[in-house]
Amino acid sequence: MPAHRPIPALVPRPTEAAFRSGHFTLDRGTALHVDSGAEPAADLLRTLLAPATGLPLPSSPDGRFALVLDPGLGGYGEEGYGLTVNPQAVLLRAAHVTGLLRGIQTIRQLLPLEALSETPQRGTRWLLPCADITDVPRQRWRGAMLDVARHFQPVSYLRRYVDVLALHKINVFHLHLTDDQGWRMPVSACPKLTEIGGHRAESQTGPAGSDAFDGTPHGGSYTRAELADLVRYAAARGVTVMPEIEMPGHVRAALAAYPGLGNDPERSLDVWTRWGVCDTVLGVHDEVLDFCRTVLDEVMDVFPSPYIHLGGEECPTAEWTNSAAARGRAAAEGLPHPEALRGWFLGQIGDHLVRRGRRPVGWAETGIELPPDFTVMTWRDSAHTLTAARRGHSVISAYHRATYLDYAQSDDPHEPPAQPGPVVDLRAVHAHDPVPEDADAEAAGRVLGTQAQLWTEFVTTPAHIEYLTYPRLCALADRGWSGATDWADFRSRLDRHTARLDALGVQRHP
Ligand code: ACM
Repeated sequence: MPAHRPIPALVPRPTEAAFRSGHFTLDRGTALHVDSGAEPAADLLRTLLAPATGLPLPSSPDGRFALVLDPGLGGYGEEGYGLTVNPQAVLLRAAHVTGLLRGIQTIRQLLPLEALSETPQRGTRWLLPCADITDVPRQRWRGAMLDVARHFQPVSYLRRYVDVLALHKINVFHLHLTDDQGWRMPVSACPKLTEIGGHRAESQTGPAGSDAFDGTPHGGSYTRAELADLVRYAAARGVTVMPEIEMPGHVRAALAAYPGLGNDPERSLDVWTRWGVCDTVLGVHDEVLDFCRTVLDEVMDVFPSPYIHLGGEECPTAEWTNSAAARGRAAAEGLPHPEALRGWFLGQIGDHLVRRGRRPVGWAETGIELPPDFTVMTWRDSAHTLTAARRGHSVISAYHRATYLDYAQSDDPHEPPAQPGPVVDLRAVHAHDPVPEDADAEAAGRVLGTQAQLWTEFVTTPAHIEYLTYPRLCALADRGWSGATDWADFRSRLDRHTARLDALGVQRHP
């Protein structure tokens, strides 16, 4: 062993970290002192370390590796933690068990790389460097959205995806479950949603507007049990799974299954095989609202997330303008024109979520168009974050030029096919501060944080997902957790952190 170990390159960077010489050795004799309520943290530590180390880490009241819950550490909030490592003892403490889960990911990064292996590593000494760390996140919401509607991914991959999110202290996994091209969550009251809406005949191969198709069927759906298991798996890692069910646009797969939900029940529609914005949208009759409430009741049964995403963006209104029934509904509701049905529709369904104790979330296109009790994700223009916050919304910045990982990450012609749009390189992700510079304290306080988006029109495999996600998500996680703006410091830590991604087999961009 070298006498002098380099200071570990933690990602995200802790708020305060001081390293001292010496180390604590984890071995077969190491026992855990586990406070009442801290058992989930002990379980996670054992689960993460067992494959490589084989260490049993039994619980014992006088264990020298302590997982301590102290409500007096109120300043740590929900996710903060303190870690003290001496040659004789390890003390991980937090006010809330989620803080302990975050601290365990830090411990994982402090151990030798071999600790990340899926297979037994013989001959490695499991040394933790002596350190004092105090670590509290700057942003409350550090999310990652994966679109499994455009291309379905098996739940085994979603678990793996959550594993790597958790390593980076990402706390929300936003699962985009429905869109024009596929419906992935079974709803027992409406089985055709997945039976018909879960499969499309083929995919457009070029960008929206092109006329080439691959001639290959695409599809798949989850079972309720798989999704419930994913929720538990993520919760054990301190990650909340937030489901998204799109409405009243991006619903072509649902209309293929149940044409009566649309504006022309006589018209039969396919699950969309094209990309882009589809002009078929939900009707606004009572049966459609009842359908949405039924679907969401089943969604809420599976997903305990306090936030439920209703999509809401890119909803062309021509079908409503051309429909006597929709025009009649707009008039009956006292709306000035049929275009206002979008906000009205989302308000009706948002109220249903609020009555059940949940918070509706929507994609904001201008920052002012969604009902007031919606939490909004601003994506089109970074200025919309402030507009929405000043209007009283809680806001998550999903600004496309900084957080859309489906855009290419360099202008190298050898990059795989990507969503047409700007290059979003590592530096652009790292540079993004979701809190607008000119925000007053009240508006700034409404900005919950930021989130990465991976739309998958052109992304079919887990390898491609990982190539687009890493290392750009490391930059978002670093900035979101620590707020640290020093690019050179981030690059130098990332250069060493990539060895961890490699040890985990993440197929990252070089
Ligand atoms: C979006 O890019 N459709 C929010």
